[in-house]
Amino acid sequence: VQKADVTTAGFHEPGFTPQELADPALAEIRDLLYRASGTYQSENRFDFLAKRCRRRMKCLDSTSFADYLERLASPAGPDDEIRLLLNELLIGETSFFRNPPQLDAMVKIILPKLLAAKVSADCRRLRIWSAGCSTGEEPYTLAIVFLEKVARAWPQWTLEILATDLNDEALQKCRAGIYDEYALRNAGAEIRARYFRAADAAFAVVEQARELVSFSRLNLNDPAAMAEMHSFDLIFCCNVLIYFEEASKHRAINNFYRALHPGGYFFVSDCESLYHTQHDFRLLHYPAAIAYRKAIPGEFPGDAI
Ligand SMILES: C[S@@+](CC[C@H](N)C(=O)[O-])C[C@H]1O[C@@H](n2cnc3c(N)ncnc32)[C@H](O)[C@@H]1O
Repeated sequence: VQKADVTTAGFHEPGFTPQELADPALAEIRDLLYRASGTYQSENRFDFLAKRCRRRMKCLDSTSFADYLERLASPAGPDDEIRLLLNELLIGETSFFRNPPQLDAMVKIILPKLLAAKVSADCRRLRIWSAGCSTGEEPYTLAIVFLEKVARAWPQWTLEILATDLNDEALQKCRAGIYDEYALRNAGAEIRARYFRAADAAFAVVEQARELVSFSRLNLNDPAAMAEMHSFDLIFCCNVLIYFEEASKHRAINNFYRALHPGGYFFVSDCESLYHTQHDFRLLHYPAAIAYRKAIPGEFPGDAI
């Protein structure tokens, strides 16, 4: 046994020997998942991949990676095995108010100029996409920030936040809108009091914020689904593309570019960048944050903010 991890249930999950991890079927499972989702498990993550496969294999009484590969390769409708394995595999780490400098740049610098430009075009509707929203903390944070910082100063605005993810279990949590103390660790007392209601030992997002957000399952690596996405002013895709490989990342970024209105903004997390990816965005620097902007045809580079 190579090593043991502590599972979410708190018990030690045995690891695999190097020989077991060298099973060619495991590499084929990795490739199949890559083609399905764009996420890529390099060889140093094979122990993790093998453990997550083993969880699903137990449910199916499957005893070898080769046998499990066969089942994965024959998808059968909405409950197909790839989807169930991805639910086990996708990393959903997130929290409310995860990146304050990015939120500050959006509220103090980007939105005033963006909203003013929209008003002069007689439009009072803002559309935001939280792509790879995990369990919902990011889109609900955006809804709360809008209510707190924008709605009062800019009344009569409509905000629509579309939050998407590939993980069915994460989306169920989004729709429930109930969180524990740990998820709220960066939320101050006033925000908690205004936007959450105590629900047993947890906190439920208030209706006023919930009604701004809609959730849907979307695979960022699915060209047909991505082609349907359009007319966004802001897109957040934070801590998602780090799990993608170069080609799938490139495709996703160019789809985000297409899905934005000219003058719209694209955000990644503070540990990511579009460096090494060919794209048409302009990179903008703010205090302790960056954003990417889709230029308006004919504007000067200095017009961007
Ligand atoms: C680490 S979480 C990021 C959550 C949130 N954006 C944040 O920054 O706090 C990454 C999310 O990306 C999702 N994801 C990974 N690959 C995806 C794909 N191909 N399509 C849609 N979502 C994907 C995972 O299911 C997971 O919920």
